[in-house]
Amino acid sequence: MDLYEYQARDMFEKHGVPVLRGIVATTPEEAKAAAEQLGTSVVVVKAQVKTGGRGKAGGVKLARSPQEAADHAEQILGMDIKGHTVHKVMIAEGADIAEEYYFSVLLDRSERAYLAMCSKEGGMEIEQLAVERPEALARVSVDPLVGIDAAKAAEIVEAAGFDEADRAAIADVLVKLGGVYAAEDASLVEVNPLVKTGDGKIVALDGKVTLDENAEFRHEDHAALADVSATDPLEVAAKEKGLNYVKLDGSVGIIGNGAGLVMSTLDVVAYAGEEFPGQPKPANFLDIGGGANAEVMANGLGIILGDAQVKSVFVNVFGGITACDAVANGIVQAFALLAEAGTEPKPLVVRLDGNNAVEGRRILTEANLPLLEQVDTMDGAAKRAAELAAN
Ligand SMILES: Nc1ncnc2c1ncn2[C@@H]1O[C@H](COP(=O)(O)OP(=O)(O)OP(=O)(O)O)[C@@H](O)[C@H]1O
Ligand SMILES: [Mg+2]
Repeated sequence: MDLYEYQARDMFEKHGVPVLRGIVATTPEEAKAAAEQLGTSVVVVKAQVKTGGRGKAGGVKLARSPQEAADHAEQILGMDIKGHTVHKVMIAEGADIAEEYYFSVLLDRSERAYLAMCSKEGGMEIEQLAVERPEALARVSVDPLVGIDAAKAAEIVEAAGFDEADRAAIADVLVKLGGVYAAEDASLVEVNPLVKTGDGKIVALDGKVTLDENAEFRHEDHAALADVSATDPLEVAAKEKGLNYVKLDGSVGIIGNGAGLVMSTLDVVAYAGEEFPGQPKPANFLDIGGGANAEVMANGLGIILGDAQVKSVFVNVFGGITACDAVANGIVQAFALLAEAGTEPKPLVVRLDGNNAVEGRRILTEANLPLLEQVDTMDGAAKRAAELAAN
């Protein structure tokens, strides 16, 4: 999960990283009030979008009065930056910038380590710097079991070539940023620019943080950082139920067990759909995993049937450790649960194969569920589901 700059700013502050005050605003009036509250002679109005290059796109502007802050906010709110609409701005204290630096720490999977990158030349064009003059960007591997301690921070500032006089102060901030990375289970912490102010202080003026969602269970406060309004409501509901669901644009709902099987099911359905009017396509990705019990099946079907675009559903299960008879019983019970909940049924095509497929099919045949059809092959079932969606 990527954070907005203002969320990263708050997180930095919590871990002792020096930041400037900043207040979020969603209207020009709020921006004006925020500038008055900050009370500094210069404030900066900054678009809050989860993409880079805001400054270049005109999304970061200095204001010398609260009225000017309101005017900039008026212009920046609603702006489109690389496909992201600006709904919020942050009004930040203006910094007296003497120098701009770059720092980031991220997960280096291939090395099974963290990678810290640092440069004396920060600001807006770090990607360009990395390509044109790679020697100006220090890259230092960090042992994940140690993290960025004082010794590692000293190594980083030396590799980046900072003046002797600046090293201690910068290293101190890098240790704190390493602390954010470790304590919050981040996979990226990036500060561009990290600045030295006129009076010699080191301050993080911008912040990008990506949190590892697999570690959410040990960070109760992270859920509140999720941008629920920007996510599809069905995806939010699926997440609450612990389902691995991604909404797509088509009309054939898909349920399968195992990510690989679901991925190939999407391909097969898209291909089968080409020969029918309107060329129906998959409506979602949904992997119910190995368990496939009644509750998981009911939750999955419930989410998919809640999608108004869905015209038919294809349940594609390959029995492995969970045998097909258990899956079939899960489907039968899921129908009962859904009927109880008053969920409107839609045509359902089921393909069971693998461990105990014969018994699984028998159970479904005997249950004689309304609108449920069985097809024995994956291609045949995909075709039938696409046909049902087309009609
Ligand atoms: N609080 C501030 N006071 C003074 N100048 C600022 C402040 N915040 C940003 N700036 C100036 O604006 C530039 C761009 O700001 P920032 O780094 O936040 O946006 P960006 O780099 O364009 O966005 P992104 O990092 O998303 O690409 C900075 O390099 C800095 O010169
Ligand atoms: Mg930046």
